[in-house]
Amino acid sequence: MRTRFEERTRSGSEDHGAPGFRSLLAARPHLALTAVGLAVEAVPLARVAVSHGTPTWVYSAAAIHTRYRAMSVALAEAGLDARIHYALKANDSLAVVTQLARQGAGADVVSDGERRIARQAGIAPRDIVFSGVGKTEAELRAALADGVGQINVESAEELAMLSAIARGMGVTAKVALRINPDVDAGTHAKITTGLAENKFGIPSTDALALYSHAAALPGIVPVGLAMHIGSQITSLAPFRSAYSLLAALAREVRSAGLPIALLDIGGGLGIPYAGEEVPSASAYAAVVKETLGALGLRLVVEPGRWIVGPAGVLLARVVLQKQGEHRRFVILDAAMNDLIRPSLYDAWHGILPVTPARWRAPLSPADVVGPVCETGDTFASARPLPDLGPGELVAILDAGAYGAVMSSTYNARPLAAAVMVSGTADAVIRPRQSFEAMRAGEVLPPWLGPLLPPPER
Ligand code: LLP
Repeated sequence: MRTRFEERTRSGSEDHGAPGFRSLLAARPHLALTAVGLAVEAVPLARVAVSHGTPTWVYSAAAIHTRYRAMSVALAEAGLDARIHYALKANDSLAVVTQLARQGAGADVVSDGERRIARQAGIAPRDIVFSGVGKTEAELRAALADGVGQINVESAEELAMLSAIARGMGVTAKVALRINPDVDAGTHAKITTGLAENKFGIPSTDALALYSHAAALPGIVPVGLAMHIGSQITSLAPFRSAYSLLAALAREVRSAGLPIALLDIGGGLGIPYAGEEVPSASAYAAVVKETLGALGLRLVVEPGRWIVGPAGVLLARVVLQKQGEHRRFVILDAAMNDLIRPSLYDAWHGILPVTPARWRAPLSPADVVGPVCETGDTFASARPLPDLGPGELVAILDAGAYGAVMSSTYNARPLAAAVMVSGTADAVIRPRQSFEAMRAGEVLPPWLGPLLPPPER
């Protein structure tokens, strides 16, 4: 007779047909299973846990390097005049951005903070694109003062605001108009951006009129058109539709005798979290070539996830394993405040045990959860996993993008440490946040008077 637990996990478990440990490992060249357990490049994660504690983000420098190169080679081999502007929102770690800057990346930024990080990392202002649907006046001023090379404007209202600011400062803003193509990217509703109902961009029917209006505005030089239709896109079809529309609009702008130098084609190419088929960088580049290649315009590409997503893991330790009435729970010292993607988007992330013996142990379904006081604090449901007792280490895969950047200190949990690995070397790139740093700046309002000494008992 099957137990209720088995019934529950056999029927409709989200992990039906999910890839096993070996296939997850095989698809990730920067990970290895060594005699001392799972390693990022040549650094055993067990060693990272001892030296730096858990939870810890661990990034592979080689993976970032290889993936950036693969994307730039794919674009170049397709014969495109394209420049990668890495989307800092995916991972704004100074070390990651600096490494990409040294490889030649420009930046796509969406806040003054990201612009400053790009600058710290050595990216020239002319190589920075400032995107975002609600840039504040102060952010626009700072970008103009810095000489940012391209500002993507998302509405007539923003264009007017930018013109007034630039004119007042006596400078000109180089502007690309972001068009909303009303294309369904076929991705999670919370990360789709190119539908008419989304807040992003200008309707394509308004593009030409606004472009010519921009050309006549003081303080504004329109340089091109921009599009970004969403993230974790796993089919080429939405790119093909969106870029075809972009090409048509670029031709209209040209035929109207207006100057156009570039097209910003956004980011969004997906990665295989659960072994799904995703287009390669060359297949993506071929679609770009097919749809936009004949225009002879300079292209700006803004990938984030594709470059850094697979390059990072979140290393966590099992606090304890608990047998619930219906389910086995593996409770980690990492939680939704560290990696929120599973809670927020029902995202599937591979989870590998670090100890070699656990790779050979029998598997049974377990819910992998964090200690935060919310049921949504779940990394995986009914995941086939071995017995994982207190102290065991696990690696949550593909946490290099939209991982650390989306962390919070919810439940007063300080931000996790981050480590970068290169070959046999590892280095802390962000120390674990201390309690004091987490609470820095907290003060009482004057009417509460001074903090009293805490009662003894
Ligand atoms: N350019 C613009 C204008 C964007 O809005 C984005 C992402 C990118 C480029 C980079 O897209 P990527 O190549 O990384 O797909 N937090 C979500 C993803 C949000 C993406 C927002 N925009 C997640 O964890 O899946």
